[in-house]
Amino acid sequence: MTNTSETGTVDTGAAKKTVAVFFGGVSSEHSVSCVSAVSVLRAIDRERFDVIAVGITRDGQWTLVDPQSVDYRFAPDAPLPEVAAGESLVAFSPEAGSRELLELRDGQYRSAGVVDVVLPIIHGPFGEDGTLQGLFELAGVPYAGAGVFASAAGMDKEFMKLVFRHAGLQVGPFEVIGDREWRRDADAALARLDGLDYPLFVKPARAGSSQGITRVDSPEGLREAVETAREHDLKVIVEQGIVGREIEVAVLQGRGTNATRVSLPGEIAVDEAGSHSFYDFTAKYIENDAAQLSCPAVMPEEAVEEVRRLGVTAFEALDGEGLSRVDFFYTPDGRFVINEINTMPGFTPISMYPALWSKSGIDYPSLISELLDLALERPLGLR
Ligand SMILES: Nc1ncnc2c1ncn2[C@@H]1O[C@H](COP(=O)(O)OP(=O)(O)O)[C@@H](O)[C@H]1O
Ligand SMILES: [Mg+2]
Repeated sequence: MTNTSETGTVDTGAAKKTVAVFFGGVSSEHSVSCVSAVSVLRAIDRERFDVIAVGITRDGQWTLVDPQSVDYRFAPDAPLPEVAAGESLVAFSPEAGSRELLELRDGQYRSAGVVDVVLPIIHGPFGEDGTLQGLFELAGVPYAGAGVFASAAGMDKEFMKLVFRHAGLQVGPFEVIGDREWRRDADAALARLDGLDYPLFVKPARAGSSQGITRVDSPEGLREAVETAREHDLKVIVEQGIVGREIEVAVLQGRGTNATRVSLPGEIAVDEAGSHSFYDFTAKYIENDAAQLSCPAVMPEEAVEEVRRLGVTAFEALDGEGLSRVDFFYTPDGRFVINEINTMPGFTPISMYPALWSKSGIDYPSLISELLDLALERPLGLR
């Protein structure tokens, strides 16, 4: 229990608060969110917080879930975990400033609790992209993590690159194919890709967990790869492959006016001799030995400091809040090319973000408390 924050301005431990953990969601990362939520729910300090769990089904229904009994996990050959449609629906009260969640059951509304802070453990569109964050802003409820703009820009692989480039970060060559252009003249869109060197990575512009991404080694595979990406997002980004080690840092906002915090860098090494030509969904979550996570990454001391500095630059360039994981390619000639930022990174038992912090002095439960305290100390509205 703490009664003072670093700034001494917020009394975070004075009275028990209610946290609503949101998870699931309509994006293709639904199951990752479910598995993250299990770990998060177990880590919340119950002496400081009462917990409400709100699951969002794949088709977007908000339902109350018993936070004690949730148990979702990944297993080879098992179906991906998902939120089951429940009998009780929930929504925020429309009354201004009430912060109350209302439960609708058997045609009757009753209070499900007044929410002091939301922890939205949702990845992908309609969860991590500012839409849900906008709903919390409208409901007047504080929430952990990035605000509306940073969430939206951090979800979109084109716009994040524009922000990063503006901040002086190195970004690899890429092209964007919009829906109307593709439907109007796919050949012309494909012709625009001639300037990029193979292999190419064809991706939905707004997705995550490697869903919908294809590595393409020659032009014949391009059209199908674009169609695959379009199953996830009608906006597609095609990137030139970057040769380099995959290095990631975990960023955590400072309390009050304190400086942004950044972890030691970690490295992901995919066993390319196996069935994975990149860090795909199965390598991330299903086959535990397909990718090795190591922290701290073995690099010269100057490179360690440089990538940590670049991670903070990326977070601040985007107007990040709360947390982000920032991913780079470390090229053989010693440059860091930014791949992406994740404003709500995974929190599963094998996820990099909490692992990086545990190697950098903040254990998993403390990290969750920190995210909640950061959310509680920040003002609502324009800030
Ligand atoms: N331009 C690129 N060059 C080389 N590898 C890439 C590139 N883009 C993606 N990859 C590989 O694909 C993985 C997933 O791509 P990423 O852009 O991080 O998507 P997601 O948002 O789904 O995590 C990366 O971790 C990396 O292994
Ligand atoms: Mg990634």
